[in-house]
Amino acid sequence: MKYNVFKTKKEASKAAYETFKQYLKPNSVLGLATGGTPTDFYKEIIADYNLGNTSYKNNVTFNLDEYVGISYDHPESYHKFMDTNLFDHIDIDRKNINIPDASSEHLAEEIKKYQNKLNNKTINIQLLGVGSNGHIGFNEPGTFFNVGVHVVDLNEETIEANSRFFNNDKNLVPKQAVTMGIADIMKSEVIILLAFGENKKEAIKSLFDENEPTVDIPCTILKNHPNVYVFVDEEADYNK
Ligand code: F6R
Repeated sequence: MKYNVFKTKKEASKAAYETFKQYLKPNSVLGLATGGTPTDFYKEIIADYNLGNTSYKNNVTFNLDEYVGISYDHPESYHKFMDTNLFDHIDIDRKNINIPDASSEHLAEEIKKYQNKLNNKTINIQLLGVGSNGHIGFNEPGTFFNVGVHVVDLNEETIEANSRFFNNDKNLVPKQAVTMGIADIMKSEVIILLAFGENKKEAIKSLFDENEPTVDIPCTILKNHPNVYVFVDEEADYNK
């Protein structure tokens, strides 16, 4: 695991983008994350795209997760997030965008479809954030490492953390999500994990301790992945 500390989220995101660009090919399959963490990283993608340096016409994307029970056009759906923060600003071909359809009445079928699509591709570069409880995607503590796409009950800590996007009202936060599994994430060739803020420090520390990976802290499985880059700001630096 390569560990990189920068003073601010902005600087760390810029450096993470440089690493991303080293691996990026015109037809790379990209695994994408949502939430507060990747916003500056996506700004770097857009800025470079606007300079004419990159095209995403032939890239395929897979998002990690989507809330169950809110529609695509809900301002906090991850479909909406991706349009606003990235897809509306680059030349991605809409038919190459994959995000779980968690608003479907046929969730089990949708999960199977998403899993099949993932099984037919290799994610070349996977972007990850991490929950303060160590979740990656929405694989909450206790999730087995061998699971694929599934519905998850979000735990209290996650609902609490994400209420900041829902008028600070926990009751408005969806209680479930569809997420790629840890097995899917671990198949990616390169993983770029970003973490910003004091509340991520413990999760980051767990990536570098002497302990074996444990389902109690899902991100610890990344110790077993051969090519992980971690970018943090000073507040999330576990050495401090
Ligand atoms: C989002 C995702 C989650 C977030 C994590 C951190 O697609 O999969 O694992 O990365 O919950 O969220 P933020 O970035 O809002 O702190």
